[in-house]
Amino acid sequence: MSHIYPIFDKMLSRTDKEQLLGQRGVMLWFTGLSGSGKSTVAIALERELHRRGRLCRLLDGDNIRAGINANLGFSAEDRRENIRRIAEVAKLFVDTGIITIAAFISPTEEMRSMAAEIIGPEDFKEVYISTPIEECERRDVKGLYAKARRGEIPNFTGISAPFEAPKHPALSLDTSRLSLEESVAQLLRLLQI
Ligand code: ADX
Repeated sequence: MSHIYPIFDKMLSRTDKEQLLGQRGVMLWFTGLSGSGKSTVAIALERELHRRGRLCRLLDGDNIRAGINANLGFSAEDRRENIRRIAEVAKLFVDTGIITIAAFISPTEEMRSMAAEIIGPEDFKEVYISTPIEECERRDVKGLYAKARRGEIPNFTGISAPFEAPKHPALSLDTSRLSLEESVAQLLRLLQI
């Protein structure tokens, strides 16, 4: 590290960016099982915030696991590295004043607290998409639960790999009970928008 020279004192600050945008950067960290509705809720929230003139960045499995994390699988170690890199990337967006929404299973307390530490606990809002596994499995949008039950996908979250529900999420949303509009409304209240 001895040949790396910090230039942070010359760079514009987060506050400069937030003033330009007229908003505060924040991290909404969605966690929940595959098929729980994380992406659906995140996409609807991003659209509504955009409509209200807020700049957002959505990070989810499709844009991250296909690109920056294309070399990672689903072992505990790879998931941890997946979440670590996502948190580092998310931090850059939050520090640019952007409302940043991450939608990843992030199955353990340890992974989520690592993400909170990287991003900064004061900017980190944990949103638990708490749809029960029975409903996720009934939906089985991608057909993965059926495959996991047949033993064709090892380490499948909720079947053969753990999922630890968050103990103190800022918000819990069960998409088997709430409409999409109601979930978005609760998130806007959380953001005080
Ligand atoms: S995480 O555990 O590392 O946070 P992430 O959210 O990136 O997971 O990816 C989860 C998505 O990958 C699931 O929605 C599903 O489509 C797919 N997937 C493929 N294999 C698995 C697996 N073994 N466990 C869970 N999801 C898997």
